Amino acid sequence: MDTYPFQISGPALYLIMFIKDILKAEADNSEVCVSGWVRTKRDMKNLVFIEVNDGSCFAGIQCTFDKGPGLDAATETGLSRLTAGASVTVRGRIVPSPASGQRLEVAATELALVGEADAETYPLQKKRHSLEFLREIAHLRARTNTFGAVARVRGRMAFAVNRFFEERGFFLVHTPIITANDAEGAGAMFQVTTLDLAALAGSSSPPDWSRDFFARHCYLTVSGQLEAETYAMALSRVYTFGPTFRAENSNTARHLAEFWMIEPEIAFAELPDLMTLAEDFLKYIFADTLEKSADDLNFFDLRVQKGLVENLQALIKSKFTHITYTDAVNELQKSKEDFDFKPVWGSDLQTEHEKYLTEKVAGGPVIVTDYPKDIKAFYMKLNDDDKTVRAMDVLVPRLGEIIGGSQREDNLQKLEKRMTELGMNSKDYSWYLDLRRYGAVPHSGFGLGFERLVQYVTGMANIRDVIPYPRAAGQADF
Ligand code: 4AD
Ligand code: MG
Repeated sequence: MDTYPFQISGPALYLIMFIKDILKAEADNSEVCVSGWVRTKRDMKNLVFIEVNDGSCFAGIQCTFDKGPGLDAATETGLSRLTAGASVTVRGRIVPSPASGQRLEVAATELALVGEADAETYPLQKKRHSLEFLREIAHLRARTNTFGAVARVRGRMAFAVNRFFEERGFFLVHTPIITANDAEGAGAMFQVTTLDLAALAGSSSPPDWSRDFFARHCYLTVSGQLEAETYAMALSRVYTFGPTFRAENSNTARHLAEFWMIEPEIAFAELPDLMTLAEDFLKYIFADTLEKSADDLNFFDLRVQKGLVENLQALIKSKFTHITYTDAVNELQKSKEDFDFKPVWGSDLQTEHEKYLTEKVAGGPVIVTDYPKDIKAFYMKLNDDDKTVRAMDVLVPRLGEIIGGSQREDNLQKLEKRMTELGMNSKDYSWYLDLRRYGAVPHSGFGLGFERLVQYVTGMANIRDVIPYPRAAGQADF
């Protein structure tokens, strides 16, 4: 059993254990200290019950105080003053609990009221608050059941992401956050500048970027892919996992302005290899989370998304459906569904189309490949038909697109031609083109929005509720 002794001031409280470890222990009367935040307090005639939660696991622990003459003065005062939200350290013994629904509790003897919480103003009084209200108190929402569970699951999932790649010989590469190039060509980038905006406002001529901090026009990155590619051309298998930024003003439950992206890039690999990697990756993360975050997932299953656990279990055993974009559009056109957007070859699939394909056609995840080149980024490998590219999107039920990736164009002439067609200045990308000049190899990679993955695993409907401090258009208060 792990123990976490450290010094605290106040009474002679010497051994603090995480609640997750206490709950696994024997109710053998051994001595223990618990530190955490009070969720509830019930003051009876002879007993005081407090429920303490330290965030180490979903459950809290009940600490029961016998109001007899044995209590010291500090404990007595502490008990009378503590309210929901206060922080405490409790000392006692682990005993079997007579109450239903809990195997053990702490028969408490001493209490240190570490920090009080004014009952008049503490915002988390009620048992249940709306998610919208909790978004307004993002600094306190991790103390609720839902957001505590989201935070634990998210943290563990990030760890599993790194473990998955580490076990397969990938190296983590930290790609830059400030960049001069637009990886996706979607044009929705935040600018980074130290120029005096007030002084520029009156001027009719465009800013002289050569006078700016980086001596050129810079942005926050939309993707670490292009830089990851350079390292894949040296280390064979790499991934980046970092923040990315998009200034699109889309106010949806699946878009953030700041989100974390996982981007593996593999050398000597073609599209089918990438499809296998994506499927293995998702299944690994789902299986790991089911194992390591069982209590939190059970909560989401019960309160947020019915059938979630069973769904994830089935998905791990399933085989993802593969379909080309062209076949997918045919499938959508054949359907009797009343779509808001008519499916036509050449247009992007809408979320409603993606949901139809996963939920109605495949009954599970779908990998759509070979999209028209005109709706995809410049770097994707052109197919022999000259119309489609070796792209793949992984779509999942409930959410739609969770992964976007492709085999990369490794032919210098074809890539230069495509860049010219799109009006891109190939001088700006000469470093990227060097990868095609010197020791080019077929290579492939994908990007997975980490928040969409957390959304999928927790069942949380809004992406703003799976990142601690969401940034979206008009929202960066915390
Ligand atoms: O499909 P996208 O735009 O692909 C790329 O950026 C490639 N450079 C990735 C690569 O091949 N290395 O974005 C990849 C994923 C999407 O599938 C989605 O999961 C997520 O990133 N994503 C967002 N997540 C939250 N908010 C947004 N605004 C997002 N935009 C994309
Ligand atoms: Mg995409």
